[in-house]
Amino acid sequence: MPRGRVLSGVLMLLASAIVSGPLAAQALSPRPRDMRGPYYPDTLPSDQDADLTRIQGLDGRASGRPLTFGGRVLDTRGTPLPAIRVEIWQTDHNGRYLHSGSQSPRPRDPFFQGFGVSISDSEGRYAFRTVMPVDYGSRPPHIHARLVKADRELLVTQIYFPGQTREPGVSPAWARQREAAQTMRIVADDGERGLVGEFDFVLAAAAP
Ligand SMILES: [Fe+2]
Repeated sequence: MPRGRVLSGVLMLLASAIVSGPLAAQALSPRPRDMRGPYYPDTLPSDQDADLTRIQGLDGRASGRPLTFGGRVLDTRGTPLPAIRVEIWQTDHNGRYLHSGSQSPRPRDPFFQGFGVSISDSEGRYAFRTVMPVDYGSRPPHIHARLVKADRELLVTQIYFPGQTREPGVSPAWARQREAAQTMRIVADDGERGLVGEFDFVLAAAAP
């Protein structure tokens, strides 16, 4: 079986394992929209799978602290939404994006994919394997996400990490909203050996 398919199966199993229990009966709050920012890749990579730690055809593995995360794509009633294209883009462990304008005194990691895609399955599950993003400039670590179906952009947002939502220009109230509505839940932490996180994307409007 091709490596990509095996990996995809592993990631989906993991996502399945970390999805929390039955959904609450009350309506879910949609995830807030957030800025797309300037670093969506200006040239998309040829390898666009859900494992950002390896690039097809290269022997190396991305440096940094491994992060596996997943969850479900849902509407506000908790209905799983299949076949949603979940895109993420983020810095490598040196603070560099896969973008020609991304600057850092440190070099870009040639083994980090920088951008990835996971398509939600019949139960709305998606999953990624990546490394922890790092802060750059004044920005705390974050992962950008864009959800698309049939070329229709459903959500653009950013995912933060618990206790790391403050930055200059962001009011305490805004940081609190980030903390409450835009942070990944860490479900396992094995130090430098890696983290496992959970994040459900709740969409305001039902997908077509
Ligand atoms: Fe960013």
